[in-house]
Amino acid sequence: MKSQTPAQTKKVLVVMGTRPEVIKLAPVIEALKDDQKGSPKIAGKTGKPRFQRVKTVICLTGQHREMVEPFLKIFGIKPDYNLRVMQPDQHLSELTGRVLAGMKKVLEAEKPDWLLVQGDTTSALAAALAAFYQRVKIGHVEAGLRTDDKYNPFPEEINRRLISHLADLHFAPTELARKNLLAEGIKPEKIFVTGNTVVDALRMILKKTAREKGNNRKMFGGPAAIVRIKEFRQEQPDRGEREAGEVARPVEGAEVEAGVRKRAVKFKENEQPCLPQADKLTVVTSRSQFKVKEVARADDSAPAASAVGSISAVSAISSAARTIYSRSVMTGCLPLEDIRKIKKLILVTAHRRESFGQGMEEICQAILRIVDRVQEAGVIFPVHLNPAVRRVVLKHLLGRPRIHLVEPLDYVTFVHLMKRASLILTDSGGIQEEAPSLGVPVVVMRETTERPEAIWAGVAWLAGTAADRITRLALRLLKKVEKEEFRRQLRRKNPFGDGRAGRRIALLLQNRKIGKI
Ligand code: UD1
Ligand code: UDP
Repeated sequence: MKSQTPAQTKKVLVVMGTRPEVIKLAPVIEALKDDQKGSPKIAGKTGKPRFQRVKTVICLTGQHREMVEPFLKIFGIKPDYNLRVMQPDQHLSELTGRVLAGMKKVLEAEKPDWLLVQGDTTSALAAALAAFYQRVKIGHVEAGLRTDDKYNPFPEEINRRLISHLADLHFAPTELARKNLLAEGIKPEKIFVTGNTVVDALRMILKKTAREKGNNRKMFGGPAAIVRIKEFRQEQPDRGEREAGEVARPVEGAEVEAGVRKRAVKFKENEQPCLPQADKLTVVTSRSQFKVKEVARADDSAPAASAVGSISAVSAISSAARTIYSRSVMTGCLPLEDIRKIKKLILVTAHRRESFGQGMEEICQAILRIVDRVQEAGVIFPVHLNPAVRRVVLKHLLGRPRIHLVEPLDYVTFVHLMKRASLILTDSGGIQEEAPSLGVPVVVMRETTERPEAIWAGVAWLAGTAADRITRLALRLLKKVEKEEFRRQLRRKNPFGDGRAGRRIALLLQNRKIGKI
């Protein structure tokens, strides 16, 4: 695919590979889209744009697959390229190689003026390196985060340092990030403090959910969107799964094409197969076999996927769900009613590579101890699809009372649960930045953090990964959070931004000035 661009238009190639990159680049894409439309904000008195227009091309590396798809949908992002690099249990070297090779072709075809990457993933580093090799200028969103510890987080600390030395423009989220860059010799005129785009993304979602609530629509995409995990199964992805990269939606009432006859599917409660995200599926029969021919969105905006099932429509669809959605067998959904009953909701996420092994085991032990000590507590843990995480988490926590292991959640559902939570236990970067806007205390299950601003703001506490310390901190915070005064303290101004970072970055890409934030 090669796109033509008028000479006076600047072309920006935005590259993203994982869940947080989609969330954090969505506001920038949105702001650039405004400019593409020639919005009045940039039009001069004559009606002609006063500044150079920007054309945005979006490339998905496909480092994440199922975990990214719902986010593209929520933010209305339609990628122009998808390199589909993900493989199960992927190794960093091979992943880097695949992204580097794929990006070479995209850069050759598009010849962009700028490449825009975010954060510190392998996708961001490999794309920046590929752009450097072709002498394409690089803009780095969320530049300057540092722990000064080479292996914490691994490999992100080194990824982001390398990107800083490849980049030509650095969009630092905070003053501290700017100082970190200056300390490494980055020229001050190349650094701009913009705020973190995650605050913009969070506001976009909160606005959307408020609107939907106003329209009397459900807060969740339907209770079926919270999919329970029953057991761990590691499967090699088949060709259909690899190529489709598609996730499915609750299919109650979907049309099943059985040979030439069509009929609506009705599921009993306990056999609801939970196919989040798609609304069209076609099942064809051959003798006693049912074959799921297609699982796709009704609006045809995503490619279809197929899978073979067996003896009944339900098992065929369930089997498609297994192949397409993840390597877990899903039996049912977590009803909203069960969530409402939880008095002290603890939301948990964990996925960092440096915690694999002992760290992840300790995190699980801590969760067991906390639930044991606090009877009103209930845990919702959307388990990352990395098999290295799933193996340990499912081994220790599956089937334990008041611990709900669920598939990764879409952003709307997850934000809703964050707001509803009494406490969050996480090793995520993005969640530390979102907590101050939501007023929820966060225990950071890592040895270091590159986001000390959340700790200084009194919303996050650094626990490390030892079970004892996580447990102690969590028990203390669960008590404190009952007090109104403490809850008021938590609802501070977000130190990571004011919700206008995306707009500032778009302006800077047009050589325009931004004021101080
Ligand atoms: C990656 C980033 C990390 C970021 C995180 C966000 C790197 C080195 N790591 O870590 O910085 O914080 O994303 O979540 O770039 N998988 C699936 N489906 C998916 C996604 C992942 O099956 O949609 C499984 C695959 O088996 C894959 C494995 O998870 O091989 C690991 O994915 P990978 O992107 O390498 O690492 P993350 O831990 O997700
Ligand atoms: N998130 C989500 N659903 C989930 C878990 C996380 O929408 O089930 C969101 C979360 O709100 C945050 C982002 O994903 O914005 C963080 O992703 P992750 O922890 O994978 O990456 P990190 O921020 O650590 O790089």
